[in-house]
Amino acid sequence: MAQEDLFKKLVAHCKEYGYVFPSSEIYDGLGAVYDYGQYGVELKNNIKKYWWDSMVLLHENIVGLDSAIFMHPTIWKASGHVDAFNDPLIDNRDSKKRYRADVLIEELLEKLDEKIAKEVEKARSRFGEKFDEPLYRTTNPRVVEIREKYDQLHKRFVDAMSGPDLAELRQIIVDNEIVCPVSGTKNWTDVRQFNLMFATEIGSTSDSAMKIYLRPETAQGIFVNFLNVQKSGRMKIPFGIAQTGKAFRNEIVARQFIFRMREFEQMEMQFFVRPGTELEWFSKWKEARMKWHRALGFGDENYRFHDHDKLAHYANAAADIEYKFPFGFKEVEGIHSRTDFDLRQHQEYSGKKMQYFDPEMNESYIPYVIETSIGVDRMFLQVMAASYYEEDLSKEGVADSRVVLRLPSVLAPVKLAVLPLVRKDGLPDISRKIIDGLKFSFNCQYDEKDSIGKRYRRQDAIGTPYCITIDYQTAEDETVTIRYRDSMLQERVPIAQLRSIIADKVSMQEQLKKL
Ligand code: GAP
Repeated sequence: MAQEDLFKKLVAHCKEYGYVFPSSEIYDGLGAVYDYGQYGVELKNNIKKYWWDSMVLLHENIVGLDSAIFMHPTIWKASGHVDAFNDPLIDNRDSKKRYRADVLIEELLEKLDEKIAKEVEKARSRFGEKFDEPLYRTTNPRVVEIREKYDQLHKRFVDAMSGPDLAELRQIIVDNEIVCPVSGTKNWTDVRQFNLMFATEIGSTSDSAMKIYLRPETAQGIFVNFLNVQKSGRMKIPFGIAQTGKAFRNEIVARQFIFRMREFEQMEMQFFVRPGTELEWFSKWKEARMKWHRALGFGDENYRFHDHDKLAHYANAAADIEYKFPFGFKEVEGIHSRTDFDLRQHQEYSGKKMQYFDPEMNESYIPYVIETSIGVDRMFLQVMAASYYEEDLSKEGVADSRVVLRLPSVLAPVKLAVLPLVRKDGLPDISRKIIDGLKFSFNCQYDEKDSIGKRYRRQDAIGTPYCITIDYQTAEDETVTIRYRDSMLQERVPIAQLRSIIADKVSMQEQLKKL
């Protein structure tokens, strides 16, 4: 199945099975805003717990914070968001559609990359085992030609973005004959800057009202509380502050479901270090964060680093962790070496010292910062995309299939479903008793409706790793059938052993031990 079709099915599945709903759906929805349903909220909470525990529980020098969404507007002036948190926009005069100029160019770059990949794949099947990919990439005239085009365009694009030079961005679009996907024409307006922050007002009268912003990142709440946490917690450098919370961006190109939203949640950690040691810590955090992702078991080959060649003015190193989504390798998390930019700016704008006294060095300085920043929603989409499988189970001419979410058990919203074979003869009572014994440890679900086969399929579709079936034998010998989601194997086990069979596999503790 084409990856695009698979993605569409995943989106539909999220809605049908209570993971993600379009916001305000009965009023025809609100662009790029989504609500999480009964299973979505559990998965989201489990992702957040995995992140939070990996930071705060496993590191004695990382503590948490929950800062407010509303903050003094000067914070956003100091951080640079008022002046520079912009997207370059371009309109097509015929379709009246608006696009991000940088995204139009990036899409063209991706197409060139795909063309190269196709040529390489064709050659691989032609040459078989003898195929020497590096040699082919550097000598095949067609591949070399596309690569040169790619490199030239990429350089021009990076230069234009560094200004940014808006006229040059438009010229790149014109020179490369990029057309509007809707009208098919090249009738473009000029490129304009558009600030991504949402503004509102605080205060009761129009005279006293102050324009404030919904935070576009949680990080600034950490920076402005840096000394509060350091002093009240007697923290010694190096130390980190972790925070999860909502962030808001007026994204213009809102596509790919929950990949790019206007209201989303971030999990950010700012790690404060001695100046001069930041690049060492940057590499450590890059590796630590990659390990966190890979420990979920979705296949190491599906992740890669993308080191930024063009750095933001406040960074001296930056890398993304990308995952192979159905629509290509895309950023899930960013790791940034932000120097002392933010703290220094806040010191300047607030007039308050943002320095730390280092007792070992016997001197005060503004610490440097390594940031790890990941979107909860994007991580959610990554987990769902990696877990969604359509399986053909046809046997001996009898057609059968299932949709299964192979979620890591530790993240699955429901850990086990208890299913009485029939709704009578005391089997529901036994089932309820089993749930009563396990519900303090695991999220359990009871289901007695429909045939057992249909109930298994329903649990597969929401990703429940274990189904426990209660039958007449249970009443006699206190054993049940446990059915494993991924293998679909079933075995008879004593009720008394259920907890120990399940506990390790769904335990956050065991997951954290992999880090
Ligand atoms: N404090 C740094 C920062 O905010 P960012 O690269 O703009 O950096 C970090 O965002 C992460 O937040 C991204 O890697 C992504 O996972 C998530 N994110 C950013 N914008 C998002 C959006 N519009 N919708 C969903 N997630 C988003």
